[in-house]
Amino acid sequence: MSHADDHEGTRRDFLYYATAGAGAVATGAAVWPLVNQMNPSADVRALSTIRVDVSGVEPGTQLTVKWLGKPVFIRHRTGAEIQDAMEQDVAFAEGQSVIDPLARNENLPDENAPASDANRCMPSPEGEAPQAWIVQMGVCTHLGCVPLGNAGDFGGWFCPCHGSHYDLSGRIRKGPAPENLPVPPAQWVDDATILLG
Ligand code: FES
Repeated sequence: MSHADDHEGTRRDFLYYATAGAGAVATGAAVWPLVNQMNPSADVRALSTIRVDVSGVEPGTQLTVKWLGKPVFIRHRTGAEIQDAMEQDVAFAEGQSVIDPLARNENLPDENAPASDANRCMPSPEGEAPQAWIVQMGVCTHLGCVPLGNAGDFGGWFCPCHGSHYDLSGRIRKGPAPENLPVPPAQWVDDATILLG
């Protein structure tokens, strides 16, 4: 059961009990129309989540899928890419007295969302290296172009429209884009399937 379903169930129960507690022992029919108006219809809910089979996404490759009308990059990293990304975290902290990959500094222009590589990655399925999978919106935070993968000065993504460079964790490092690539809600359904939304 998804978090959204959980939430719905809780809200539904709450409305039912609230009505009953008020003395009007309402039938289900009296409660349901109100609940149904409050919730998105089934077809809207279906569009807001998609399941993506990533079993064919080999290390070193990226799958781009469309979700809510926008591209989403699902990247399966090699061991070398993971290592590079972790080294970039440490590089951010150089010159600081305490190594803190979450620390803000001039290398991370998106000061609203400083993030270590680890907290931008999905948890790995069993048997895979930590930080092997990273899922991000494929939309440049400057004016919305689609960045190119395996490109730019930091080995991550490069937006050719006006020259924004994102690192291996999708953090903006150079160029006019103000923010890191957004990380959408994503979770594993099983070892080969990611649920987006
Ligand atoms: S839209 Fe990407 S740099 Fe301008």
